[in-house]
Amino acid sequence: MSSSSRHILTAPAWPYANGPRHLGHVSGFALPADMFSRYQRMAGNQVLMVSGTDEHGTPIQVQADKEGVSARELADRYNLAIAEDLRGLGMSYDLFTRTTTRNHYAVVQEIFKGLYDNGYIFPKTTMGAISPSTGRTLPDRYIEGTCPICGYDGARGDQCDNCGNQLDPIDLINPVSRINGEKPKFVETEHFMLDLPAFTEVLSRYLKGKQGQWRPNVLKFALNLLDDLQPRAISRDLDWGVPIPLDGWRENQAKKLYVWFDAVVGYFSASVEWARRSGDPEAWRAWWQDPDALSYYFMGKDNIVFHAEIWPAMLLGYDGQGDKGGTPGSLGALNVPTEVVSSEFLTMEGRKFSSSRQVVIYVKDFLERYDVDALRYYIAVAGPENNDTDFTWSGFVRRNNDELVAAWGNLVNRSVNMAAKNYGAIPEAGDLNDTDRALLARSREAFGKVGAELERSRFKNGITEALEVVRDANRYLSDQAPWKLKDDPARVQSILYTALQVVDDAKSLLTPFLPSSSQKVHELLGGEGVWAAQPRLETVSEEGGPDYPILTGDYTVEKAVWESRPITPGVPLSKPTPLFTKLDDSVVEEELARLEGK
Ligand code: MF3
Ligand code: ZN
Repeated sequence: MSSSSRHILTAPAWPYANGPRHLGHVSGFALPADMFSRYQRMAGNQVLMVSGTDEHGTPIQVQADKEGVSARELADRYNLAIAEDLRGLGMSYDLFTRTTTRNHYAVVQEIFKGLYDNGYIFPKTTMGAISPSTGRTLPDRYIEGTCPICGYDGARGDQCDNCGNQLDPIDLINPVSRINGEKPKFVETEHFMLDLPAFTEVLSRYLKGKQGQWRPNVLKFALNLLDDLQPRAISRDLDWGVPIPLDGWRENQAKKLYVWFDAVVGYFSASVEWARRSGDPEAWRAWWQDPDALSYYFMGKDNIVFHAEIWPAMLLGYDGQGDKGGTPGSLGALNVPTEVVSSEFLTMEGRKFSSSRQVVIYVKDFLERYDVDALRYYIAVAGPENNDTDFTWSGFVRRNNDELVAAWGNLVNRSVNMAAKNYGAIPEAGDLNDTDRALLARSREAFGKVGAELERSRFKNGITEALEVVRDANRYLSDQAPWKLKDDPARVQSILYTALQVVDDAKSLLTPFLPSSSQKVHELLGGEGVWAAQPRLETVSEEGGPDYPILTGDYTVEKAVWESRPITPGVPLSKPTPLFTKLDDSVVEEELARLEGK
């Protein structure tokens, strides 16, 4: 490892364990994070990529009610389904865990206590709903009424699904209990508040320091939030969540920590869990406390508030850095995010993804029918990086056929095929001419260019540049036309050598985007061992708790590096099998019919 090697935390947002993942989800939090991590590992940095399923709160409880199971059963079901989806996508997590572990509960409570001890969490008496007939607390989600903001009739006490705003049950117009239709009674109840106004100054300094580094729309959104920071409730009237770690509250079954408070701590608790599992319980410190360590959080834009404002505030408060000062909690000061990388939204054939309205294509179904790298390619080149973007089946088929198959697949296929047929091995370079050397230099230099794009999460630019190298190589082969040079074997050999070297380079340049086909190209060129590693699903145990599945992997065995490596003449080659599958145009109609027929 080079001396410039850095510790880099990749933090993909935690998917709710309330259903399988669809393309809209994974285009935001998942694939960009994996492309970034794979590049950083190849560049020699020490990457830790951790996440898991987000299993508490209303989103889980509401779906559990719908499916007629307990929240725990629902979480178990979808934790596993989501882990399988993410494994299928080749997400190279060091640890993909869940928020229902003992470890997570303990770490969340530690962060709460640090904030509380420093004075950034205070109790507040507010009005909470009870059922007049039973006298019991009515959880927010069991109250329904008209949204005070948009006038929608079926708004819930915690949020309006029509306008998406977070609500307070007491603000609903004509509130009724969803359990028995009675009108709830509002009585005084206590909640815990995070004192966000106490962070206005530190957050403003923090965010202003990110100018020119973060995507402009993410930073603008985050800076706007600072204009009016209000204390925010971090407990809820709900029985499914992390207990409040204070005497008199710990045992309270009707009040738990707000799901977002516990979920964002997941990045940290998962790092602690990973360290313990790796055999060095202190190993997380290199990513969270080393001042040179970097951290990148990946998500869809509906998560910006929580990652660019609330999570940094929580960390700063734990560190004792808000207006009220304080001292770092017992684990020591923790690093705030280096960058919040947020995507825009992906729509599906012009409509919003919606599991309930069946405007959806699930990861699992997609991967049963198409190559994973076809999807990864599409999201990299046409995903919602800076704008809301529409996924269309015709676009997918066209990019797969015209770009992946016709450009990259074809270059690999004809170069390896000709060399295998003529020599059965990688040929010697012989006397390279200026054209050969120019192409080789071009492809070598692409590492700097594509790397600079990937470092800044500009996937579209990165993959476009890598594909340009591929196109230049195809043009070179067509121009040089070695198949017409039967009389000049020495020249044919130099051309094929050059083409194979560029194939090898392009394979490396494309590895962050297309790890599984890059592994294949590595093998086609006679390489052995693991070029790009894939995650595996494992069952682990935890003291005092049930066993559960995780995703993990051994990425240190990877041979992939971010530089041009000379190919070795003499390495045997055989006739290649195709890298990608060309899709028939009928796929478009089939898929559209599927979408309509559902
Ligand atoms: N579960 C949330 C969502 O799907 C994301 C949580 S990210 C976390 O929108 F960091 F807070 F966990
Ligand atoms: Zn509304």
